[in-house]
Amino acid sequence: MQYTANSLENHWMPFSSNRDFKDNPRLIVKAEGCYYWDHKGGKIIDGSSGLFCVALGHGRPEIADAVHAQLNDCDYVPPFQLGHPAAFELASKVAKILPEDMNHVFFCNSGSESIDTALKIVMAYHRANGEGHRNRFVSREKAYHGVNIGGVSLAGLMKNREAFTCTMPNVVHMRHTWMPENRFVKGQPEHGAELAEDLQRMCDNYGGTTIAACFVEPIAGSTGCLVPPKGYLDRLREICDANGILLVFDEVICGFGRTGKAFAAQSFGVTPDIITMAKALTNGAQPMGAVAVRDELYDTVVNSSAYGAIEFFHGYTFSAHPAACAAGLATQNIFEKENVFARAESMTEFFLDKLWELEDLDDIVDLRGYGLLGAFDLKPGDTPGARGPALQKELFWKGLHIKFTGDTGLIAPPLVATQDEISEMIEVIRATLTGN
Ligand SMILES: Cc1ncc(COP(=O)(O)O)c(C=O)c1O
Repeated sequence: MQYTANSLENHWMPFSSNRDFKDNPRLIVKAEGCYYWDHKGGKIIDGSSGLFCVALGHGRPEIADAVHAQLNDCDYVPPFQLGHPAAFELASKVAKILPEDMNHVFFCNSGSESIDTALKIVMAYHRANGEGHRNRFVSREKAYHGVNIGGVSLAGLMKNREAFTCTMPNVVHMRHTWMPENRFVKGQPEHGAELAEDLQRMCDNYGGTTIAACFVEPIAGSTGCLVPPKGYLDRLREICDANGILLVFDEVICGFGRTGKAFAAQSFGVTPDIITMAKALTNGAQPMGAVAVRDELYDTVVNSSAYGAIEFFHGYTFSAHPAACAAGLATQNIFEKENVFARAESMTEFFLDKLWELEDLDDIVDLRGYGLLGAFDLKPGDTPGARGPALQKELFWKGLHIKFTGDTGLIAPPLVATQDEISEMIEVIRATLTGN
C-alpha cells in the first residue's frame, strides 16, 4: 500500500520544524502494542508512550470497541445542563483512585485546558470564600503547563513564552529543582528540599494572603524528568497550609501509573488541593483532560450560589464528550483488571537500571528517573539544544521514537512494556550514540 500524502503543505504542524519535516517526513501509519510503523514500512519502538499517553500500549481493542459502541448509541450530548451516564461513571472511577477527600472531577479536553480550568477553580474558590484578593500565582522555572494562555503564564520555559508577550499578570516563579550535585541520582535526590523555601520567600515578599495557588508538576516532565528532592513537596504543602495557599499538582504526565501509583501525590505522600490530569486518562485514544478537587473546594464553590443558579461559569462544548468518556472508562477498567500501576512499580528498578547503563557514555552528562519516566542530557554541541532534535531523527530511522526537549531525551515506556522492549529502547540509544 502506498502512503504518500497528496500534499504536506496545508497542515501546520504543532511544536515542529515544519520545513525540515516536510523535506523528509516521518509519517506513522500503524500502531500496535509498543510499536509504530512508518510510511516506508519501518518498525519503530515507542519509547515515549506517544506523548506520555499510551500507557496501555497502542491499539487496545477494548477501547476502540467502547468508543465505537458509544458513538453508535449516543454520539454527542451538550454538557451544559444535560448529562449522560458515562460521564458520571468515569468521574466515579477516577475519584476511586484519587487521594482520599478528592471526589469531584471536572472534565475538559486536554492538559492545557485542565490548567486553565484549575486556575479558574482556584479563583472561584477564593472568591466564594471571601478571599477574592488572592490574585497572585506561584509557579516554577522549567515548568511546562501546556500552551493555553494560563499555562504559558505559569510556564518556566523561555522558548514557550518569548513570542507570546501578553500573558497573565501576577505570576511569580520559584527556582527549578535541577542541581549539579544531583547528577546521575536515581529516584528522589537527597539535596534540594530547601528550594521549597522559595515559596516562603514569595510569602514574605508579597504577603502570603495575596497568593492564590502554587502550581507544580510533582516531577517536571517535559523539561526532562526533574524528580522532586526528598522533602521538597512536603515543605511546599506546609507553606501552603500555613498561608491559605492552594497547592495544585499538574499530573498530566505523572497521573495514571507513571510513578508506580495512580498519582504522584500517592507516590510522594503529599496530597494537593487540586490535581490536573489528561493523557493516559483515555490511553490517548480520545482527547480528554480533567481536574480533580478536594471536597471542600467543590462544596465551597457550589454552595456559594443560590439553588438553581449556575455555580461555576466555565465549561467546554466537548467537556465529558461521550466518546472520550467511553475511552476513559475502558482505559480505567483495564488499569484495574490488569493491575497496571503495580506492574509499572515492579518494572521501575529494571527500567532505571537499564537507563543507567548509558552512564558510561561520554555523550551523556546526566541521567534522571523515577517510576517509568526517565531522561538523559546530551553533552551540548556548539549550539545548545541542536543535538537533541538531530538525535531524535537519527533514532527514529534506527527504530526508536522518544521525545526530546532541547538536548534532553525523555524515555517513558508504555506501562505494559516488557523487559525486552525496555532493553530494546536503551540499546538503540547506545548503538546510535556509539555509532554502531
Ligand atoms: C505537565 C503538563 N501539563 C500540561 C500539559 C499540556 O497538555 P496538552 O498537550 O494535552 O494540552 C502537558 C503536556 O505535555 C504536561 O506535560
